[in-house]
Amino acid sequence: MSEQQPLQQRKVRFDFADTPLHWVPNEPEASHIMNSLHLILPAEEFWFCRVYNKALPLVTDPQLREDVQGFVKQEAQHARAHDSALTPYLLRHGIDPTPFTQRIHWLFDKLLCDYPLGDNAISRALQPWWLRQRVGLIAAMEHFTCVLGDWIITTRSLDHADPVMLDLLRWHGAEEVEHRSVAHDLHMHIGGSLPMRWVFMLIATAALIFLFSSSVKSMMRQDPATRYRPGFLKLWYHLGQRGLLPRMGDIGRSVLRYFNPSYHPRTEGDIRVAMDYLAHSPAAQRAAQEKAATA
Ligand SMILES: [Fe+2]
Ligand SMILES: [Fe+2]
Repeated sequence: MSEQQPLQQRKVRFDFADTPLHWVPNEPEASHIMNSLHLILPAEEFWFCRVYNKALPLVTDPQLREDVQGFVKQEAQHARAHDSALTPYLLRHGIDPTPFTQRIHWLFDKLLCDYPLGDNAISRALQPWWLRQRVGLIAAMEHFTCVLGDWIITTRSLDHADPVMLDLLRWHGAEEVEHRSVAHDLHMHIGGSLPMRWVFMLIATAALIFLFSSSVKSMMRQDPATRYRPGFLKLWYHLGQRGLLPRMGDIGRSVLRYFNPSYHPRTEGDIRVAMDYLAHSPAAQRAAQEKAATA
């Protein structure tokens, strides 16, 4: 069952002309770790959309069907918004995203596509199974986006950061909390199970650590202000202790919650805080005004 109003796509736009590279002042490492989202998410979230469009015919519950359609529209907008930061923000500051983005497009467009082994009889026979695996993986990934989204909209330690970049991350984070239940509900609806949830959480955790660490490495190498220090997790740990990233212990506890048989995402994050942010987000407010003007 949907928890609130139908999921809506907010057609936000962001102007990064005045956004400094180190948009968290004097914190290049924290800025780059959060900038990883611009490198990872366009490929990842458009992949979510393709997988969900493939799964949609399997959804027999009308409410869930509506939620999945709203989810796809929101994720597509997230992908576009992060992609819009690549040229006017990262490239403008001399950071070339392509060494990393070429590899991530291979991952999501080739390895995790419908027919990674080619269009043959075996691949076609495995399509229902392969779709369930990918939906299960997305459900585990969406647990992380909800947890991180709740952190970015509730932390006060970034209030002094660049307002445009902060609004992008908080608008995205709030929508992640808003649609927190959809991926889990879809996974269970098409035959997901508790053991599958456990397996996909382990895969998602390893994959996200790898993607974050390699994208951060790619950017830090290009920034004269940062030296990449081996030990991405150690760097995250120290920034978490200072409140500039979610604390590693909090993320670890959230992973453990996912293993609980009674887990449901509706108890993750605070939907009231998320909807309040979306009501006051400068970008979301501009999008609502533009929508009203063209209606
Ligand atoms: Fe998203
Ligand atoms: Fe999401």
